[in-house]
Amino acid sequence: MNNHPIGIFDSGVGGTSIWKEINALLPKENTIYLADSKNAPYGNKSEEQIVQYSIKNTELLLEKGCKLVVVACNTATTNAISHLRRNYGIPFIGIEPAIKPAALKSQSKTVGVLATKGTLTSNLFHSTSENHGNGIKIVEQVGTGLVPLIEGANVDSSETKVLLEKYMKPMLDEGMDHLVLGCTHYPYLIPVLKELLPEHVEIIDSGQAVARQTKAVLEQNGLRNSSHKIGKHHFYSNSDISTLKSFLGNVGIGMEISYLDF
Ligand code: DGL
Repeated sequence: MNNHPIGIFDSGVGGTSIWKEINALLPKENTIYLADSKNAPYGNKSEEQIVQYSIKNTELLLEKGCKLVVVACNTATTNAISHLRRNYGIPFIGIEPAIKPAALKSQSKTVGVLATKGTLTSNLFHSTSENHGNGIKIVEQVGTGLVPLIEGANVDSSETKVLLEKYMKPMLDEGMDHLVLGCTHYPYLIPVLKELLPEHVEIIDSGQAVARQTKAVLEQNGLRNSSHKIGKHHFYSNSDISTLKSFLGNVGIGMEISYLDF
């Protein structure tokens, strides 16, 4: 089992931001990545629909022999991970908006959270913000339209900048000093956000924490790959693979990208 791949899925290309952190920390692990771009965005779908997509993705990763699944999507984690954990006998790692570290570090006691509607309306997000947001003002903002722009490789477009400016304004007006990125697509917006935000605002994303958690859970379950070779990686998209390629950057040896209808 140790040589089996780690499965990773997202509604599209966003989870590659998580894949990069996992690969940097665990370079000997093999991985299989599913970009469900055909069904993106998940963020405006019903909980039931998000659970169905998550089941479909998980079952494909299990068919491909994955030993652990990383749900590299805040929307799928907050809506579906408890269902997945109840129904499949492998470990699951999820990602949620990192309210806790932001709340602990905030001087202004005001934290902004940019995430999808599906994440911000979920029960899991509400309980996390109640548990960790004590004494902190949490300014929530739905990032409507951002995921389709990123999926269309329009990260740098004027439309993206206009939307981000609009979404940052209420948070800045409330005095936020930490911005939590609650969607795995959003780390690709960091260069644009840095141009828009005052220097004192710190951007928090959870990619490295997810990679550390993946390592810890592999170790706890005796699932670390003992091979001395660099891992092999297969990326599947059910949409245009050129977008996925562009987000992966340097597609090195041992990395394959294919179209798959799933
Ligand atoms: N990457 C997903 C997330 O982290 C994007 C959600 C979407 O497809 O709307 O929430």
